[in-house]
Amino acid sequence: MVMVTGGAGYIGSHAVLALRDAGYGIVVIDNLVTGFDWAVPGDVPLVRGDIADQPLVEATLRDHGVRAIMHFAGSVVVPESVSNPLKYYHNNSAKTRDLIESAVRIGVPHFIFSSTAATYGTPDVEAVREDTPQCPINPYGMSKLMTEHMLRDVAAAHPMNFCALRYFNVAGADPQGRTGQSTAGATHLIKVAVEAALGKRESVSIFGTDFDTPDGTGVRDYIHVSDLAAAHLLALEALMAQPTRNHLLNCGYGRGFSVLEVLDAVDRATNNPIKRVMVGRRAGDPGRLISDNKAILETFPWTPRHADLDQIVAHALAWERQLGDRA
Ligand code: UFG
Repeated sequence: MVMVTGGAGYIGSHAVLALRDAGYGIVVIDNLVTGFDWAVPGDVPLVRGDIADQPLVEATLRDHGVRAIMHFAGSVVVPESVSNPLKYYHNNSAKTRDLIESAVRIGVPHFIFSSTAATYGTPDVEAVREDTPQCPINPYGMSKLMTEHMLRDVAAAHPMNFCALRYFNVAGADPQGRTGQSTAGATHLIKVAVEAALGKRESVSIFGTDFDTPDGTGVRDYIHVSDLAAAHLLALEALMAQPTRNHLLNCGYGRGFSVLEVLDAVDRATNNPIKRVMVGRRAGDPGRLISDNKAILETFPWTPRHADLDQIVAHALAWERQLGDRA
């Protein structure tokens, strides 16, 4: 039995589907601040509550016989973390500390954590390896790095192993159209671009055209959310197979696309160019952030299925259409 925190959110709801498709028992805990109850399949129990509500969490872990936690719940907007750092240290670091304490008390043996490439800051390398120094440049990245450290220490002291997956730029939606990115006011490029393509926004701002990249715009390693969900399942299997081994792994494809390449892909998908507005750089944006993914490919039998940018965009667009005005 797996407890999924944030299972009503974007990435969590895809992990729920992957677990369900693989036949795992699941319980979701979500406070529905940014998630949606309709994102959780009707046959999966949804506990409405907070990960730091220890009596609730511990009762859930005990009652459902939970053996693993996949922890997605958290705050994810980088600029907001700069203007309101305490929210991030509270939601991401302090509440996760309480969740881990509940897991230790109940004796949950496996913990899978949503970490981020933002823990690396602005690395000056072609491709970021797991041993590239982690120097976050915003409170979001730091709040996640703090959790990685907590997990390392807790796993050394208690009978628990963990896997931290450092996500690069997550995008796309379930290929079968069962869930997708529904978050209101999202700032992520592909989400923003498909909203613009469907007339939900007037234009897309391009944040900086003077980076040291082939076309001057920012380059990112966009990873399809369903491939990411599949990696979580493999992480779970690896933790169960080797209960004394921990994993800290990048989750990306090891290739990048520029902002202009992404916008071109969205234009191709609809055959209707989006209005582009060139604006200055956004504070704290690295020019290029691409994963070295050798470690995950060597550690898990992970076969990315949706690395094609046009496919990522097509799935994001299909979900955005289906979403209509719901979120
Ligand atoms: N961008 C634009 N216009 C927009 C939005 C984004 O030009 O409207 C550009 C950004 O400047 C950047 C690229 O598109 O070059 C991607 O930006 P996103 O906002 O989509 O994503 P970020 O790379 O800033 O950050 C994302 C997540 C973080 C995560 C990070 C890891 O938001 O949580 O990826 O790579 F840590």
